[in-house]
Amino acid sequence: MLDAATRTAPAALAHPIAELSRGVQAGLIGRTPMVERLMIALLVGGHLLIEGAPGLAKTRAVKRLASGLSCTFSRIQCTPDLMPADLTGTQVFRPEQGRFEFVEGPVFNSLVLVDEINRAPPKVQSALLEAMAEGQVTAGGVTYRLPEPFMVAATQNSIEHEGTFPLPEAQLDRFLMHVLVDFPDASSERAILDLVEREATETTDMPHPLSADAILAARAEVARVHLAPALKDFIVRLVMATREEQPAPDIRRAIEHPVSPRGTLSLAAAARARAYLNGRDYATPEDVAELAPDVLAHRLVPTWRAAADGETARGLIGRLLSVVQPL
Ligand SMILES: Nc1ncnc2c1ncn2[C@@H]1O[C@H](COP(=O)(O)OP(=O)(O)OP(=O)(O)O)[C@@H](O)[C@H]1O
Ligand SMILES: [Mg+2]
Repeated sequence: MLDAATRTAPAALAHPIAELSRGVQAGLIGRTPMVERLMIALLVGGHLLIEGAPGLAKTRAVKRLASGLSCTFSRIQCTPDLMPADLTGTQVFRPEQGRFEFVEGPVFNSLVLVDEINRAPPKVQSALLEAMAEGQVTAGGVTYRLPEPFMVAATQNSIEHEGTFPLPEAQLDRFLMHVLVDFPDASSERAILDLVEREATETTDMPHPLSADAILAARAEVARVHLAPALKDFIVRLVMATREEQPAPDIRRAIEHPVSPRGTLSLAAAARARAYLNGRDYATPEDVAELAPDVLAHRLVPTWRAAADGETARGLIGRLLSVVQPL
């Protein structure tokens, strides 16, 4: 542990970030985990995959986040006839200059909402995921840098299977987190009705939009949040348990592809961001345990036998958390 004097207090910067988070939340009934995950992705420079049935405020949450940022925003609606260049951009011939010029596609924005990513054909998905992983697009042999910050929030519909292209596991790994949204209960449903009715006459306030510089400064602060050695060990033990026989042989046997080091790094970064979001300059085991399912589950593949028995990746991570405990 660092002593108090050498620790940085994130309070000054956490303030506008906390305001933004509250502003996004104010336009939604419930959905606190989704809002928190959006903020965490923004704070660590990761990308978020949001999955749920239609009409559960996925688009609304991302649009609200966009309205709280002074960065550029774009929305891409995926369809089976989308081409990679529709996303990344195209070389256009300029006769007056006698040469080709690159016209940037909608991916050249700071916040990109990709709706129904699983309806895009595989070539489009891989072009997007390459841009996400590398922060750049290559066209006509030239590399173009994407803006900083750059964040993708992709949605996918969990009930639609016909005419969809499931994201391959290797590409899912590029997402920092995979968050599931479920149906609201009766009282939330009623509150949604009232909120939307109220909005016909009044708007829910958003704070002053946060600049790109403010986000980058907050990211630097997040990177300095203290992660105690014992907490790093906890993350590593969780990940190793997906690869090694001990301490949970039955869980290990149910896993075809275990979690990669990218999962380890992502869990550490996300835990730091959650701590920062809660005004702490140190992460806790609770930060790790709370985020582990959303950070790790989409990175592992259960064996077909386990899947046939009704086992899910998320369920396996849940079981792992009861076996692997923080020290
Ligand atoms: N929790 C909620 N809080 C506030 N509004 C909500 C909530 N859930 C649903 N709504 C309302 O339901 C409508 C649908 O929301 P939205 O378009 O964001 O859904 P979606 O999840 O993106 O759906 P789709 O998968 O079809 O794109 C909006 O009018 C939104 O205001
Ligand atoms: Mg939507």
